[in-house]
Amino acid sequence: MSGHLQITDLTVDFGGFTAVKDLGLTINKGELRCLIGPNGAGKTTTLDLICGKTKPTRGSIKYDGKELASLEEYKIARAGVGRKFQIPSVFKQLTVYENLEVANCKNTGVFANLFRPGHSSHRDGLEKLAEFVGLADQLDLPAAYLSHGQTQWLEIALLLARDSELILLDEPTAGMTAQETHKTAEICNRLKGKHTIVVVEHDMGFVREICDVISVMHQGQLLAEGTADEISADPQVREVYLGSMGIGDA
Ligand SMILES: Nc1ncnc2c1ncn2[C@@H]1O[C@H](COP(=O)(O)OP(=O)(O)OP(=O)(O)O)[C@@H](O)[C@H]1O
Ligand SMILES: [Mg+2]
Repeated sequence: MSGHLQITDLTVDFGGFTAVKDLGLTINKGELRCLIGPNGAGKTTTLDLICGKTKPTRGSIKYDGKELASLEEYKIARAGVGRKFQIPSVFKQLTVYENLEVANCKNTGVFANLFRPGHSSHRDGLEKLAEFVGLADQLDLPAAYLSHGQTQWLEIALLLARDSELILLDEPTAGMTAQETHKTAEICNRLKGKHTIVVVEHDMGFVREICDVISVMHQGQLLAEGTADEISADPQVREVYLGSMGIGDA
C-alpha cells in the first residue's frame, strides 16, 4: 500500500482567489498520473500543496494513510515525497557523481532496492542510478557541463538518490528537444510500478507516451479524468484546452 496518494476536498485560497477548489485525486502505488489543463488551472499549485510548499485552506492529502496537509515541508520530504522544480537544484561545480552522493546523504530511508541489489557497494548503487537516467558516461563531469536535458535527468536521479517514493514533476520536458523528450518518457516509463509519479505537462505527445490515466484541471477544479482516448474525445476538455487536436500520437 506504500505509495498511495489520496487527495480529498483540497482547496487553497490566495487572498480571495481560489487557485485549487475541492480537488479530489486518488493515485495508486506505482501509478503514473498526468495532470494537464490550461495555464492557471492550478496544476503547479496542486504540486506545491502535495509537497508542502503551500499550505491548503482546507482538505486532506493522505499519503499511505498519513495526513500530509498539516506537516512541514521537510517532514513531507522525509515521508518520501520528492519534487522536481523547474529551476535546477544541482550543484554546478560538483560532478554528477558528487551531486548524487550529496543527495544520497540526505536519504533517510533504505536506498532504493532498484539500485542496490544484494551487497553491491554504495558507489555501485550511485553508478547504477546514473546509468538509469543515461548519465553513466558523465559521472565525473561537473554538472555545469551537462546539457539542458542531462541536467533535468540528473534532477530526477537526485530524487531517486534521496529515496523519494512519490515523485512530482512539473513540466519535465520544457525546453527539451524531441529526442530528449522521448528519452525523458523512457525514464518515466521505467520508473512506473516502482514509484508513484505525478507529471504536469503541456506536451501532449509526451503525455500520450507515458500516461495511464490523465486528470484534467480547469479553474482550480477537476474537469475530467480518463485514458488519453477518453480525454481526447471529451467535449468539455476540447473546449477549454485541447481544441480539436486531442492528445497527439507520440
Ligand atoms: N501565491 C500565489 N498568490 C496568488 N495567486 C497565486 C499564487 N500562486 C498561484 N496563483 C494563481 O493561481 C492560479 C493557478 O496557478 P498555477 O501556477 O497553479 O497554474 P498552472 O496550472 O500550473 O498553469 P501553467 O500551465 O501556466 O503553469 C493562477 O491564476 C496563479 O496566478
Ligand atoms: Mg504550472
